[in-house]
Amino acid sequence: MKAFNVLQDIKQVEDAIPFYRPQGSEVELFERAWRNRLPLLIKGPTGCGKTRFVSHMAARLNLPLYTVACHDDLTAADLVGRHLIGDGKTIWSDGPLTRAVREGGICYLDEVVEARKDTTVVLHPLADDRRVLPIDRTGELLEAPPPFMLIVSYNPGYQNFLKGMKPSTRQRFVSLAFDFPAPAQEEAILIGETGIDTMTAKRLVSIAGAFRVLRDHDLEEGASTRLLVYAATLIRDGCEPSLACRAALVETLTDDADTASALIEVIDATFGR
Ligand SMILES: Nc1ncnc2c1ncn2[C@@H]1O[C@H](COP(=O)(O)OP(=O)(O)O)[C@@H](O)[C@H]1O
Ligand SMILES: [Mg+2]
Repeated sequence: MKAFNVLQDIKQVEDAIPFYRPQGSEVELFERAWRNRLPLLIKGPTGCGKTRFVSHMAARLNLPLYTVACHDDLTAADLVGRHLIGDGKTIWSDGPLTRAVREGGICYLDEVVEARKDTTVVLHPLADDRRVLPIDRTGELLEAPPPFMLIVSYNPGYQNFLKGMKPSTRQRFVSLAFDFPAPAQEEAILIGETGIDTMTAKRLVSIAGAFRVLRDHDLEEGASTRLLVYAATLIRDGCEPSLACRAALVETLTDDADTASALIEVIDATFGR
């Protein structure tokens, strides 16, 4: 009876770690960066597994994770915190970056190039060997405890040409380049995520391969792993494969009628219509 309980406990821990299928040596590199207190930059196209990788690693290392989806209005105060007024008094409220520093967790800034430039003022001293967070409004200077890790990600292809990161920011990070997984990996991801059969997984991955060739020509971005997971989910639910691919892939990727019919031809040829 006791042994059974122990097994159950272990299972629960495993369940809490989000499924992630490594593409290369990123797990090892992440752990080395974390152990040595180095900040990490992850770049790659949308939907290729960056966010999933970070949540997997946070769970694996048992660290609290604060994820911030950056946008063009995001300021340093949104990250650090601000005074809130309530009940006639002002109370300081920590932002996600400050919380991650205080708790010794991970702060993950997704699409960091979108954030306002004033955020670099708080990121720079945290991202180099000082590892401090100055909070101007309270006069505090927080020293990041050893487990704290700063991670930023961005999508280089996403018309980020002008926005890019300044070398002075970029050169504070160890960088990992992600791309869409190799076919065998991507099949395993589709099967692991949705429970779809091997044949369907292979077909979806081959369709994505054909679409990705069109990237930079007719399509702004290739079909992401995320969209393949959507298509697989619809098929797993009983949806007819061509219809699922049309909804999850074609219409999501293009508004152009000619491009759409070229994509539909690939799908019909693959699923044998
Ligand atoms: N290596 C992987 N292992 C498991 N699932 C993956 C992997 N890569 C992508 N996925 C799937 O693709 C989806 C999108 O990935 P995500 O991490 O959100 O992309 P990104 O952050 O790069 O835009 C995930 O929700 C997951 O279903
Ligand atoms: Mg993401």
